[in-house]
Amino acid sequence: MYVALLNFLLKFVGKDKAKSLKSYNFAAENSKTHIKMAGYLVEDTRKVTTHRLLEMKQAGKKIAMLTSYDYSMAQIVDAAGVDIILVGDSASNMMAGNVTTLPITLDQMIYHARSVVRGVKRALVVCDMPFGTYQVDPQDAVRNAVRIMQETGCDALKLEGGVEILPAVKLILDAGIPVMGHLGLTPQSINKFGTYAVRAREEAEANKLRTDAIALDEVGCCAVVLEKIPADLATEVSQKIKVPTISIGAGGGCDGQVLVVHDMLGMNKGFSPKFLRRYANLYDIMIDAIGQYVTDVKSGDFPNQDEQY
Ligand code: KIV
Repeated sequence: MYVALLNFLLKFVGKDKAKSLKSYNFAAENSKTHIKMAGYLVEDTRKVTTHRLLEMKQAGKKIAMLTSYDYSMAQIVDAAGVDIILVGDSASNMMAGNVTTLPITLDQMIYHARSVVRGVKRALVVCDMPFGTYQVDPQDAVRNAVRIMQETGCDALKLEGGVEILPAVKLILDAGIPVMGHLGLTPQSINKFGTYAVRAREEAEANKLRTDAIALDEVGCCAVVLEKIPADLATEVSQKIKVPTISIGAGGGCDGQVLVVHDMLGMNKGFSPKFLRRYANLYDIMIDAIGQYVTDVKSGDFPNQDEQY
């Protein structure tokens, strides 16, 4: 039966979708807990919680995470079965056209996160705390964290850094707010690093990352993003800490993966790091569609008799 289904998909739906279903555990498809969301098989449709993330790690089930910055994209990403939606401060680059994540403000992140939350039914929504809102004073950090939670309705916050931000992380957790850590390449510190190259290749930096990951785990973070570090180190850390690790350029040994949605959909041309897999080429598709619209308007072809009152 599955062979027939795959043949059908290959013929009528497309090779890529058939391939993703083929690699899926079809035995699990028979289980009542597996439900199709937008054509893709998802474990179940209950709202994802931080507790479920831990269960997924313990059961060896991988976690899929993507960014979204607005209602429309969040609806699509959620419907396709993504477990965690990150309202990343990469909105600074992707939405506002800034070179770094540093300029985005607390008010702007709140606007993006509130829009995303309105579009999501199932995924856990995590919002980045923007640069400057948690590094200066731990008390300020809690005040800002409470504001984001109250004004957006998101489920958790992400903060970049290790032991140096631990007092802020502890206070935010004490306020009952789940925190996701972020180690390795931390874009808010790009001016200190001076480069977007792979982090923690040297032993001293790798050791600091090990210490930071253990500290974030022990203090009670719900997960840790590991960005652009060697795969061996990420695998070791993933095995050492209790909570899930989510990789962006840190390899397949992590408990989950995250990509910036605009990158994986191929909405921009210029960014092609080794870790990025493009699942579509929306830039070209959108240029073609919009170009056709322009042509139709200029030629008088649009609107036709059926497209007017
Ligand atoms: O802001 C963001 O998009 C992120 C991901 C790259 C993890 O932090």
